[in-house]
Amino acid sequence: MTLSASSPVGIFDSGIGGLTVVKAIQSLLPFERIIYFGDTARVPYGSKSQVTIRKYALEDTGILMKYQPKMIIVACNTVSALALDVVEQAGRGVPVLGVLEAGAELAVEHSRNGRIGVIGTRATMASNAYPFAINAINPEVEVFTSACPLFVPLAEEGYTAHPAASMIAREYLEKLLEQGIDTLVLGCTHYPILKTMIGEIVGPEITIIDSAEAVALKARELLAENSLLNVSGVSAFPHLLVSDLPQKFKALCELFLGQEIPDVELMEV
Ligand code: DGL
Repeated sequence: MTLSASSPVGIFDSGIGGLTVVKAIQSLLPFERIIYFGDTARVPYGSKSQVTIRKYALEDTGILMKYQPKMIIVACNTVSALALDVVEQAGRGVPVLGVLEAGAELAVEHSRNGRIGVIGTRATMASNAYPFAINAINPEVEVFTSACPLFVPLAEEGYTAHPAASMIAREYLEKLLEQGIDTLVLGCTHYPILKTMIGEIVGPEITIIDSAEAVALKARELLAENSLLNVSGVSAFPHLLVSDLPQKFKALCELFLGQEIPDVELMEV
């Protein structure tokens, strides 16, 4: 397949979480056309088995491939941890970027005391992909992890500042904070939606790493290396596809992006 600078960047996640990556790409690379697929019919991925996650990853990639993307960004840590190879294979030569490595690299860069906390879905935490990626960069770093499965439904429901969300977050983060970490990786793309609340709990001394911002920087690098940056000077709103309830997704997007958005298309899986 010939890749061209005017082709879209394909991005997918299980639901609304990947929009944190869309937002980061839009602000860093405003002229890129984005095609986004959110698998809202099957969210959450993080509490499913590896076999199921790999099957979903294959199907999600197939949907994006119909739009002939010049790059695929896996805006889902769970798929990045458990099924990146499936996406690479189904992408048939299209460059693929996962969020996990980018987040791990940024965390190692930021940590001063070599004690890094990572939060994510059950599947991502059980895979140990973060400790592995972080220790591959620096084996001296100590990594402490905690699964926060309730964060995904809270984000999907727009409970960004609800007292119940804050209570749950305190419970999840308490043990990590006792470990003296100076850096906390949001190892799930849904979590930046709750970043303000998480920041209030962990306090200003701990650097929060958002893998969405990290992957946007990587995407720019990779596109530039391959002479695939879109320099048209024209920006368009992302083409949004979901596998269920497009209206609910539209309302949530508007809440999250703080602007009116065009219709969201239904793409059955
Ligand atoms: N946003 C995804 C992640 O980064 C998946 C969350 C889920 O569906 O459980 O892991």
